[in-house]
Amino acid sequence: MSSAQITSPAVTVRCPAKVNLELLVGGVRPDGFHTLSTIYQAVSLYDEVTVEPAETWSVTLRGQYTEGVPTDGSNLAVRAAKVLADRHAITQALTVTIRKDIPVAGGMAGGSADAAATLLACDALWGLNSPKADLEEIAAELGSDIPFLLHGGTAIGSGRGELLAPVLARGTYHWVFVAAAGEGLSTPAVYREFDRRHGGLDIADPRPTPELMAALRTGDVDALAAVVSNDLQPAALALNPALRETLDAGMEYGALAGFVSGSGPTCAFLTASAEASIDLAVALSASEIGDRVHRAHGPVLGAHLR
Ligand code: C5P
Repeated sequence: MSSAQITSPAVTVRCPAKVNLELLVGGVRPDGFHTLSTIYQAVSLYDEVTVEPAETWSVTLRGQYTEGVPTDGSNLAVRAAKVLADRHAITQALTVTIRKDIPVAGGMAGGSADAAATLLACDALWGLNSPKADLEEIAAELGSDIPFLLHGGTAIGSGRGELLAPVLARGTYHWVFVAAAGEGLSTPAVYREFDRRHGGLDIADPRPTPELMAALRTGDVDALAAVVSNDLQPAALALNPALRETLDAGMEYGALAGFVSGSGPTCAFLTASAEASIDLAVALSASEIGDRVHRAHGPVLGAHLR
């Protein structure tokens, strides 16, 4: 396909962030990734990607989180577009505009959200109508969290996080997220610290916790708050000890549970209701802990056309 053949206007796709309600980390696989058992939930913080045909590749960043995001070919959105293009022998260059409102390097899969959004946007722009399984396969090649961001809702992730199974989940959960001040945490560095702390132990393959699945089945936020967990949290706290203060503040101001989101450093707080999340967000903003404070609810849809 040459650029002259592309007549479609720009396509925009919105993609949510994720939080891990449970992140159980097992042993290291031969490919270097860790075996995981996680429960993902898509939450209403969004990045938005617009793709338009162009003569040369370019990336433009907008929104509140742009620092440290590459605008060259190493940007995950560009890599996603190029993998899909290669599969279909498309040589079209694109202008990719990314509105970034998900914290960067924050443990909420912002870069993965951009890749998921770009796959869907390019599929529509190029009129490919790819089967869902094809996009999911490319997504899994590009990153462990990307298939879930296409999927959305609440789901179990296994393998290295890319294998998804549905979860019976009721209710809407109200969250407050505190993005950390300063630089984010590198996911590989957090996993390395996890390995260092576990001294090369051969950790058994983890499985979802039955109490957590039961809490989701009944939509019981108090029961859920009692069992949320993140095996990466001690490693993230070791690399950024100031996060402990953020977690303590959130609990003091009324969160039902507070934990590091994924590999961090964003801290996630589960609250009892939409009103409670407003109160907590106001209190945390006033205390000037962390950088920015965001309210969100979940589960929400995965990547979708605007
Ligand atoms: O798949 P993704 O690109 O998100 O992974 C980023 C990094 O996180 C990997 O390179 C690896 O160091 C670490 N990782 C891991 N085990 C997983 C997922 C990620 O060790 N299951």
